[in-house]
Amino acid sequence: VALGARSYDVLIGERLIAAAGAEIARRFPGAAAAIITDETVAAHHAGALETALGGHVACRGVIAMPAGERTKCFAELARLAEWLLEKGVERGDLVIALGGGVIGDLAGFAAAIVRRGVRMVQVPTTLLSQVDSSVGGKTGINTPQGKNLAGAFHQPSLVLADTGVLATLPDRETRAGYAEVAKYGLLGDAAFFDWLEQSHARILAKEPEALARAIEVSVGAKAAIVARDETEAGDRMLLNLGHTFGHALEAWAGFSSRLLHGEAVAIGMAEAFRYSERRSLCAAGTAARVERHLRAAGLPTCIAHIPGNSLPTVEELITLMGQDKKVQRGRLTFILARAIGEAFVTRDVDRQDLAAFMADEIKLPA
Ligand SMILES: NC(=O)c1ccc[n+]([C@@H]2O[C@H](COP(=O)([O-])OP(=O)(O)OC[C@H]3O[C@@H](n4cnc5c(N)ncnc54)[C@H](O)[C@@H]3O)[C@@H](O)[C@H]2O)c1
Ligand SMILES: [Zn+2]
Repeated sequence: VALGARSYDVLIGERLIAAAGAEIARRFPGAAAAIITDETVAAHHAGALETALGGHVACRGVIAMPAGERTKCFAELARLAEWLLEKGVERGDLVIALGGGVIGDLAGFAAAIVRRGVRMVQVPTTLLSQVDSSVGGKTGINTPQGKNLAGAFHQPSLVLADTGVLATLPDRETRAGYAEVAKYGLLGDAAFFDWLEQSHARILAKEPEALARAIEVSVGAKAAIVARDETEAGDRMLLNLGHTFGHALEAWAGFSSRLLHGEAVAIGMAEAFRYSERRSLCAAGTAARVERHLRAAGLPTCIAHIPGNSLPTVEELITLMGQDKKVQRGRLTFILARAIGEAFVTRDVDRQDLAAFMADEIKLPA
């Protein structure tokens, strides 16, 4: 990820945790490390990381936070920051985040504020965190007002994406992470999308070569966008394809296991293409192709696919979209598409037109 003096490497491969001690000692001589993980990941993988550090990198401690989105809160951030200080973590040390996006975001924020900034290493353990959240430097927590509303930009110094750890990841989480992989094809790389149409079964079966290629292309796409626009003044917004619609659905479902983030993004991307097609921005049949692929990967593509009996109202969804961080002077930002692989950012969306579209979306049969 090319960011001048703050550039860093993302290593992708099968046995990177086993080699982490030597790799970290070589890159950051003399630094001690503190490992932050969650209870579920700790049970599977923390021992292997501790063993790998042994002899190469001094370990100041390991903390396992409760698993799940609720851990991304001020109370747990305070507990974590005080734990890091108590363990004597110094400016030159490393905070290692071993886990999914929840741990990466929380540990990254703690690392950003403790001693005004300690270096961090991301060891992402979900497909979502390997292709998305571990790269790019956005860290943060949720507040009662909404998701990711407090945080900091704090780039990691190294990312180790060990594809072997995905063996223990539940299938539903793998599919949800796959939605973000498909996103990179849909937003800017039609050839990658073609390849995904051929290869999704191999990726979801965690076949090492297919998985490594999917992660490499995804990270490459994200790295290029982040290098152009680190703080999301422009281009980086493309990464939010499917997220304006998706976040509203996630919030409506209460950020619960009823609808995982990646599942909401899958529905949101299908909606973005349906809306683009309705406005004649892209050719007829484009949205159907996107839906076919997402469904083949076992992902939902419309509101009716969300389990449970209740349906949102148009007003609820539009209000929730208004909470989006991308709102500027009251205008919503949308990522729409001219074709597969050709997404663009626009604020030119008429509220009434959007409301009519959402009303049709809510009526769409499963
Ligand atoms: N910073 C960013 O740029 C960015 C981008 C996208 C998403 N995010 C954030 O990421 C979070 C979602 O991340 P996530 O989907 O990785 O969720 P997560 O961290 O909650 O992980 C999902 C579940 O899988 C478990 N798990 C993780 N790795 C495992 C493994 N290898 N084996 C078995 N179980 C494992 C976890 O304990 C958890 O229960 C959200 O909070 C979202 O806001 C941040
Ligand atoms: Zn996302």
